[in-house]
Amino acid sequence: MSNEPLRKLKKIRFVMPFPGLLITDYSFCYQALSFFSTLSRAIHHSLFITHPAIGHHLTFQPFPGLLITDYSLFITQFSPIFAKTPPMYQTLLLLPENGILTVVINRADKLNALNKEVFNELNLVLDEIEKSPAIKSVIITGAGSKAFVAGADITEFNGMSKEEAMAVAKRGQDTFARIENSSKPIVAAVNGFALGGGCELAMSCHFRVAAENAKFGQPEVNLGLIPGYGGTQRLVQLIGKGKAMELLMSAHMIDANEAKALGLVNYVTTPETLLDHTRKILETINSKAPLAVAGCIKAANAVYDESKDGYALEIEEFGNAFDTEDMKEGVNAFLEKRKAIFQGK
Ligand code: COA
Repeated sequence: MSNEPLRKLKKIRFVMPFPGLLITDYSFCYQALSFFSTLSRAIHHSLFITHPAIGHHLTFQPFPGLLITDYSLFITQFSPIFAKTPPMYQTLLLLPENGILTVVINRADKLNALNKEVFNELNLVLDEIEKSPAIKSVIITGAGSKAFVAGADITEFNGMSKEEAMAVAKRGQDTFARIENSSKPIVAAVNGFALGGGCELAMSCHFRVAAENAKFGQPEVNLGLIPGYGGTQRLVQLIGKGKAMELLMSAHMIDANEAKALGLVNYVTTPETLLDHTRKILETINSKAPLAVAGCIKAANAVYDESKDGYALEIEEFGNAFDTEDMKEGVNAFLEKRKAIFQGK
């Protein structure tokens, strides 16, 4: 490839004071349209988000040629150019940092209730997570200080037929199964209410860390409903049948410490340290061999999958590991008394 576009690129001045805000020398931007389209995906991956501080609607041109803009608007304005870029998100904030993607469910005014749009976007981001080598692991959390997710969006249930309701439950179960079966670690950082679909979302993650103000519950019986996104199954798996039955039937909410005592969450932190604590755990996991980590997820999930023989699957994954470069690197590093450097190969 000619390095002409790169030479031109160096002339383009753009500054990102914080993720999501792009200050661009507009004139050079026009000159550079053709290679912007090829670069847009890479740029998207590095910027990727709308910063909470600026929301979705800021664009400011202090004088001709200089554009200060929310990146999502930037994409919209140049939609023909960015036609092939991944979609922008309206209900999620995506914060990538050091291989850890933090996915924030961003409907704080509705306590992050899961509506159709959130499910659509969760599925899109799950595609990105599987595809992108830059994403090694994921945190799911909620916007604001009050809720992780306060459940499915109840307003969407009004007037729904039985068939529609079943389709909604299937969509929820399928989405959460994708999280559970993700080959990359996905951890819930529960920062407040995790009720109904919120508790189900947290339970579909590989494990959970909770802030001390977190509250867990399956209050569906209050609405004449039962959980529909896998809650009846995963709650029993995680805390045992007796306690799960009580929580399901009574709609009783438990706090973070009780959730920890029941094995529903691994750690309880202060609200301020929740994300840092979760990130630290994932930094440790990210330093391990990614294919081996994926193998652990697959084999451990098989315990709860009646269509699979978990022991046979473990043998297969153990064998597969011997075909990886990372296994050779891991064993050699041990023998040579040095730290292993894993490539995910
Ligand atoms: N679906 C849709 N909207 C929801 C919601 C949900 N699951 N949970 C909260 N909201 C909305 C409220 O309607 C309210 O919106 P409004 O300001 O437009 O009226 C907003 O979020 C704030 O909630 P509010 O009830 O005022 O907060 P609160 O502090 O008084 O109570 C809860 C918090 C979590 C106890 C309460 O919101 C609640 O019970 N939510 C429903 C939980 C539930 O049943 N989940 C399972 C659904 S299947």
